[in-house]
Amino acid sequence: MTTPPVCNYEGSDYQSSFWEHGGRSYEDACEAVALRRLLPPGGKFLLELGAGAGRNTPRYAGYEKVMLLDYSHTQLEQARQRLGDTDRYRYVAADIYHLPFMPGVFDAATMIRTLHHMADARRALDQVRSVLQPRATFILEFASKLNLKAILRYGLRRQSWSPFSPEPIEFAALNFDFHPATVRTWLQLSGFAIERQLTVSHLRIGWLKRNLPLKLLVWLDSLFSLTGDLWQLTPSVFIRSQATGQTAVADPGHLFRCPACGHGPLADTPPELHCESCGQTYPVQNGIYDFRLKYSEPVSQPLPVSPAPVEPDESDE
Ligand SMILES: C[S@@+](CC[C@H](N)C(=O)[O-])C[C@H]1O[C@@H](n2cnc3c(N)ncnc32)[C@H](O)[C@@H]1O
Repeated sequence: MTTPPVCNYEGSDYQSSFWEHGGRSYEDACEAVALRRLLPPGGKFLLELGAGAGRNTPRYAGYEKVMLLDYSHTQLEQARQRLGDTDRYRYVAADIYHLPFMPGVFDAATMIRTLHHMADARRALDQVRSVLQPRATFILEFASKLNLKAILRYGLRRQSWSPFSPEPIEFAALNFDFHPATVRTWLQLSGFAIERQLTVSHLRIGWLKRNLPLKLLVWLDSLFSLTGDLWQLTPSVFIRSQATGQTAVADPGHLFRCPACGHGPLADTPPELHCESCGQTYPVQNGIYDFRLKYSEPVSQPLPVSPAPVEPDESDE
């Protein structure tokens, strides 16, 4: 089976080096505002795709249950240590291109800072739609190529690629910036109706971050963000969309299906789940279900510990 490559976060200290010690309080606070504005206040079962170490998970407090999904076992292990083993949280190591869930299990999903690792974003969005109920909410954040800094660099001939063209730009291995119009089209093709857009991180400039109070910067960003439906010129864009169409919804309690052959539901029998159709087995270790398949093992080199941020528009300059 051909499957897009996976960006490898196994063993990475991304959460501590990028967020806790990386001077990103401003970006983190702006994302919190966007999520507060976009996410319905409550629901039953939210799927967090590319959850990483669970930085955003406490922001889903209104949901009865949250499923944290990430390809990296070590990121999920960090999330589990932060959030704990309660019935509210489930942890699944799996590939977004091969989701191990029955159709229509979730009434909400978020995907923050994860689409930018998708070489086949359309395919990933199709997968997300398949596990959502009709009318479910999907909050997608993506890195936009059409941002002011990229436009300026392009105008000054310091950047070869055009921020205006619709195709994604892979500026480093398995790191993509997308054109907002392209992402909207993909969402619609995957079965989502766009409801609202928020532009985020307007003031991601080192001098401002060093010299203005964080609260002021976040307040200004939250004001500018309200123009998100009119134009999108920031490095980060949030879109809230709703799942359209009358698609299948699994019976209550039927959660997992086999990501290799699609058979389901799988009986939830830790320490190992077994697919009686294709014979695959999936281990459960320390509360983390491992649905990763041999053929989607990361092809990229593991990220170095304490990686320098690779996103060009992640830099403050
Ligand atoms: C930049 S981190 C973002 C983590 C978290 N959403 C946050 O904002 O703090 C991207 C995450 O996406 C995960 N990821 C990348 N490709 C994936 C794939 N194909 N399937 C599942 N997770 C993936 C990585 O393991 C990593 O934890």
